Amino acid sequence: MIEMPVITMDGHAGSGKSTLAKELAKMYGFYQIDSGALYRTYTYFILKYLNENNENEIISEEIFQREEINNLIKNLKINIEFINNLQITMVNNENIEEYIRTPRISENIKAVADNINTRNMVNDTLRNLAGKYPIVADGRDMGTVVFYDADIKFFVTASAEERAKRRFLEFKEKHPHITIDEVVDQIVTRDKDDEKRPVGALKPAKDAIFIDTTGKNIKQVIENIIRYLQGSTSLRIKNFLENISKA
Ligand code: DC
Repeated sequence: MIEMPVITMDGHAGSGKSTLAKELAKMYGFYQIDSGALYRTYTYFILKYLNENNENEIISEEIFQREEINNLIKNLKINIEFINNLQITMVNNENIEEYIRTPRISENIKAVADNINTRNMVNDTLRNLAGKYPIVADGRDMGTVVFYDADIKFFVTASAEERAKRRFLEFKEKHPHITIDEVVDQIVTRDKDDEKRPVGALKPAKDAIFIDTTGKNIKQVIENIIRYLQGSTSLRIKNFLENISKA
């Protein structure tokens, strides 16, 4: 029996990978997996704990030496569900998507994403989905670590200026006081953190296909990606595309 295909989309913050993953979910029925949401989830619950205990809401490496923090993250029941093939992150049966995309979480995520125990828990959660669904997984180490045997791997890039502009437009709605300079600073810091991470660092897989989204609209990029899927030699991809063309 042919198993379900796995596509990976790694890249820097703002490169367009999650938009592309969502579009593939919408157009082709892949299941979009957003690995960053899981690191955001752990960060959110640690910050919540610090807040409730009147502690400084700053997450550093040392925090993982505390037993109650390790217990807190170990006991979170994180579940990935899907609505219209898009990931919904559930914790203890609650949809927490609306809480996890704040600048405060991004500022505190480094120590959480650097921590080996957190990474192992995230990776286990993600790998459990493989084989059950046709997956398009976006993140930093999807093609290099988590799904290193994926059927097709993309590394999505865009110029730093364009990525900062995209993030600025996204943030402006919810955080009207943010300036473009602040967003550029955040992007530069996050790029460095992501590339220098001791485990799961952002880098292209050896067999990754590079997709540059600078100056391109989503339709142009998706057409390019579809051409790669159609040209893939993977039986799982071929079979999947054949089935949807018959449907
Ligand atoms: O994709 P995102 O911006 O929501 O990810 C938030 C952070 O989570 C990112 O800066 C680093 C971390 N992350 C990671 O270390 N590995 C992944 N596969 C995905 C995200």
